[in-house]
Amino acid sequence: MLEDDFGREVSGVRVSLTDRCNFDCVYCHNEGLGDTRGPMDPQDDEMTADEVVRFLEVVSEFGVEKVKFTGGEPMLRGDLEEIIRRTPDSMEVSMTTNGSFLPGRAEALRDAGLERVNVSQDAIDPEAFAEITKSGAYEKVIEGVEAALDAGLDPVKLNMVVFEHTAGYVEGMVDHVAENDGLQLQLIEYMPELTGHPEWNIDIQRVHDWLEEKADRVETREMHNRRRYYVGEDGDGEGGMVEIVDPVENPHFCANCHRVRVTHEGYLKGCLNRNDDLRSMGEMSRDEIRETFRETVANRVPYYGEYMVREDGEWVVNDDYIDAAVTH
Ligand code: GTP
Ligand code: 5AD
Ligand code: SF4
Repeated sequence: MLEDDFGREVSGVRVSLTDRCNFDCVYCHNEGLGDTRGPMDPQDDEMTADEVVRFLEVVSEFGVEKVKFTGGEPMLRGDLEEIIRRTPDSMEVSMTTNGSFLPGRAEALRDAGLERVNVSQDAIDPEAFAEITKSGAYEKVIEGVEAALDAGLDPVKLNMVVFEHTAGYVEGMVDHVAENDGLQLQLIEYMPELTGHPEWNIDIQRVHDWLEEKADRVETREMHNRRRYYVGEDGDGEGGMVEIVDPVENPHFCANCHRVRVTHEGYLKGCLNRNDDLRSMGEMSRDEIRETFRETVANRVPYYGEYMVREDGEWVVNDDYIDAAVTH
């Protein structure tokens, strides 16, 4: 595996297949690119299936062992099954989706080789859901989660961004995964950087403290130093696992980040939060992709704590990195 100057091996890639989406979530960072576009907007800037597969074949030679397909909404791509089917066998394939298209398609995705799925579900309440996502697809998402479980995707993780609009639903969601086998919950610290509204922020430490009290046991995952809380294990079912994704407040999150990203247009980027380190793969040959991937990895810098540093409680760019940034 390739390693960056901070000793972080790159074991996974996150590939955005489109920046189109049928939802318009108020918090959406669109994988660090800002706003999504509408579902029917032009698609001609998106990587083709051939380009995605070529990239995955090249990085699998470097020992990259996981791929996450994201968006926008990756299920807006009609060739998603084809891309998954053509992904190298050595890679674990997962997807992050809003879940609204999973009913009727989860089995085909599994048959193509999808192993697990993360579905955004920010509240167990249709009205709150509609307000957050600007969509009326709550029932479809609930059906989609069921369809994913029925298809044997394992685990099915629910993604819940913890911010002002959702804080009142955390307890209900934790109980929900504790009672339903096969479900896990990711409580995600709201990242205001690319979307504005810092006033929506909730101190994620309060959620850690509450779960610490409630959990039967706690583990720490190496990836991003994420805490995992196991709840409800003494009940009738298997209990549930709740993971906290806290890039901003967890001082070891970025130091343990092992992922490189690819935008829907085929730009490599070393970090979710940066768009000043983009390298285009354009119409590249395999050799050129190899070289570009090496460069991206070599230039990776932990974001919070290194690229950004805290001064008087505020995050500011570390001057050392301003001149070093690459623009495409
Ligand atoms: P798995 O645990 O492999 O399923 O991945 P995941 O939880 O990282 O995937 P998912 O796409 O569901 O993302 C959940 C949340 O984590 C989203 O808010 C992502 O933006 C955030 N996230 C994932 N990876 C990173 C990362 O490298 N840096 C930052 N800052 N946030 C990340
Ligand atoms: N902060 C935290 N998480 C976010 N997501 C989207 N925007 C943000 C943000 N500003 C999460 C959603 C979705 C995943 C792809 O990213 O929960 O599941
Ligand atoms: Fe963004 Fe995902 Fe919501 Fe679509 S469903 S608007 S991509 S967070």
